Amino acid sequence: MKAFELFAGAGGMSLGLKNAGFELVGAFDAWKLATENYNTNVGPHAEVFDLKDVAGAVVEIARRSPDIIVGGPPCQDYSLAGKREEQANASLTKSFSMIVSGVRPEWFLMENVIQVLTSDTWMVAKEVLKVAGFGISILKADCSFYGVPQSRRRCFVVGRRGECDGFLDKALERAASDRPMTLRDLFGAAVPEALYFPARMPSKRSVWGPDEPAPTIRSSSLRPVPANYMPHDEDAALIENGYVYTRPFRGGRGVRSVDEPMSTITRTSFERPTGRYLNAQNEKDPVSAADTAVLTLSQISRIQGFPADWRWLAKSKRDICQMIANAVPAPVAARLGKVIMDWHRGESGAEIIDGFVDWVVLKGRSRSSGYNVKSSLRRARKLLGNRIFDNVEMEIAALQQLAGFVSLPVASKSDIRQALRLYTAFLNETPKVKKKGRLRKTPAGNDNLSAALVDVDDTDADFGT
Ligand SMILES: C[S@@+](CC[C@H](N)C(=O)[O-])C[C@H]1O[C@@H](n2cnc3c(N)ncnc32)[C@H](O)[C@@H]1O
Repeated sequence: MKAFELFAGAGGMSLGLKNAGFELVGAFDAWKLATENYNTNVGPHAEVFDLKDVAGAVVEIARRSPDIIVGGPPCQDYSLAGKREEQANASLTKSFSMIVSGVRPEWFLMENVIQVLTSDTWMVAKEVLKVAGFGISILKADCSFYGVPQSRRRCFVVGRRGECDGFLDKALERAASDRPMTLRDLFGAAVPEALYFPARMPSKRSVWGPDEPAPTIRSSSLRPVPANYMPHDEDAALIENGYVYTRPFRGGRGVRSVDEPMSTITRTSFERPTGRYLNAQNEKDPVSAADTAVLTLSQISRIQGFPADWRWLAKSKRDICQMIANAVPAPVAARLGKVIMDWHRGESGAEIIDGFVDWVVLKGRSRSSGYNVKSSLRRARKLLGNRIFDNVEMEIAALQQLAGFVSLPVASKSDIRQALRLYTAFLNETPKVKKKGRLRKTPAGNDNLSAALVDVDDTDADFGT
């Protein structure tokens, strides 16, 4: 699939898509420095382009015929850390939707803070995308379940032309890991052997395994160093220390263990605790914030999913931090990209919801007839490349264009049409929250359902970058 990125920044999202097998055909960003970093690390696709020029962008992008347009429009206007006034930056979300509907690729993928979903701007942008014929799925993700050790919460909006709303919800949710990734998962390999934490009393042990929580870190923890002690690199030092500090959000905890994900990476992730914080630490902090490890620029970059050999080019650390904080972590983009690609190739598709055969039997048919209906439905899905249409008549119309359908015996064609209509009737009678595949449209849309299925814990900072 050919991908074009808008608001590409230094290229976190593009890198992830490239790693998932997408062919990158272009990337636009208004910040020259970010495009230079992109071109140095990802590939020579990035150009300086002000995306307020919607018509110009449509012409330029359409020339490269992408299958998917991706992008994370600036989010300061929506973020909890910002003032939440929808102004110039928010209008760029509308630019995104207008460019997508002007170019009309088959797919789009948009990333933003979760607050965007309740904004006036998104209401308009969504309408533009709906009018252009896109079915829309929304994932509210904690990125620590999608391949980075960071409890960054973001929404990912995926659209495909002709599908129904919610078509990809389940597949996106299923791409999550069973447990969050921790800092130890990323950096722990640097500490292959047992750790030495000199105990204060001879009766206490001094050697700790790398997979257990470190003992309480005290100012004397790393002394005296035994004569045979080998100095460790920065990752080992982080794991040995066992804790990091991050500026707390809404009076929350400032100290995190390496056995947790880091909080959302922002421009201030390097900050050391202030005197004010040290004098009144959160009571849940496991150790003194003063004793926590100091994260290096390379570590912050890797927590955000950039590879260890990524080269940051900038005169100021501030600019590098901005580009890091802006990024969609590449592992997250790669995972979601894989879901999209599998769907695009027809290698995955919506499941047939449990209970369909029972429902057919309840309607007066025999069980074997129920199984036949289910098998006709599967046949229809296969012929349609697993695509789920917005309504059953569109589905049947699409089938009738396909040579594989046209060549079937009349009875089989009739069975398939009937199976699709029965399944639609079944979905319309099934309570919404039990649905795993196709979602019934309601006047209010499907967003409430997505919210009910994904439990979003909003206790973490959700900084716009
Ligand atoms: C949230 S960042 C996107 C980061 C990117 N998705 C990544 O993974 O690295 C938003 C980007 O929008 C860019 N931007 C802001 N206003 C713009 C405009 N008018 N035209 C083009 N890009 C703009 C910023 O320079 C910034 O790099």
